[in-house]
Amino acid sequence: MNDFALLVAQDQNRLLPLIEKELVARFQQLPIHTSLSNLQGAIKYSLEAGGKRVRPMLCLLACEACGHAAESALPGAIAVEYVHTYSLIHDDLPAMDNDDLRRGKPSNHKVFGEGQAILAGDALLTEAFAILAEAKNSMAGSCLARGAGWLGMVGGQSLDLQCENQASDPHLLPIVHQLKTGKLMRTALELGGIFAEASSQEISSLGSFGEALGLAFQIKDDLLDATSNAHHLGKGTQKDQQRGKLTYVSVMGIEKAEAALGQVTQDALEHLEGLPNPQALRAWAHHLTKRAL
Ligand code: IPE
Ligand code: IPE
Ligand code: MG
Ligand code: MG
Ligand code: MG
Repeated sequence: MNDFALLVAQDQNRLLPLIEKELVARFQQLPIHTSLSNLQGAIKYSLEAGGKRVRPMLCLLACEACGHAAESALPGAIAVEYVHTYSLIHDDLPAMDNDDLRRGKPSNHKVFGEGQAILAGDALLTEAFAILAEAKNSMAGSCLARGAGWLGMVGGQSLDLQCENQASDPHLLPIVHQLKTGKLMRTALELGGIFAEASSQEISSLGSFGEALGLAFQIKDDLLDATSNAHHLGKGTQKDQQRGKLTYVSVMGIEKAEAALGQVTQDALEHLEGLPNPQALRAWAHHLTKRAL
């Protein structure tokens, strides 16, 4: 194990239990509407299916990077993972990527039907804003809205669909990826800074790091779709080519996509200069670039 991998493993051992403990807790009880068990089941199914928890980990680590205890950013971490999980449930629907496998299990709509899957996503999105409102932080709410909304993840998903099976302008490529994946990653990092009560300059550096890292993360996701397999990834592969997606691999091929990944990761790392404790975020950027799933 190299030094970065060791640091990442230590962070995971320390912080993943905190995240996992909180993640499903809000959906555990059914105080009155016991007949809502179908919706509850659909929500818990996707949350408990696993996932790498990259965004909540980065949120907690961003808080630490600004000199605060990770726990203070837990509401932000949970909120961002709810929005991410909702985005995956909807991304797999027949109307979008039509994928049957997610996080190593049948996709949400395969088990609960499309209607319940749509509603499970809606409930996760709504709950995310409830968490931030209860944490009494309106700046956090608008930060999440920008990352998740029409000029963020949802806008990127819309462009992703619009570009399917089209001879698209290659200039759109980084924009689609920045929106669909970069903006929510930006939010994850910014929320860490907001809950740490960091300076606006620190929050801005975290955000720029997060958005560039999110772009790198999506380039790597494109590469994994082309080069890995479903058994290993826990989701379908070679799907981007089948669906005629605009990806780094479809536009420039594997080798150039790998070079772009290296360049964008370097760009991301530059934004960490000036933060009080950037070591963990630096290690995670290297780790995510080299990840195998
Ligand atoms: C997959 O995200 C979708 C993208 C934005 C690339 P992750 O690779 O973080 O998925 P999970 O949460 O680990 O399942
Ligand atoms: C999804 O991108 C990005 C989201 C906002 C969900 P992909 O469609 O490439 O994600 P996977 O490969 O299905 O996880
Ligand atoms: Mg998609
Ligand atoms: Mg997809
Ligand atoms: Mg993909």
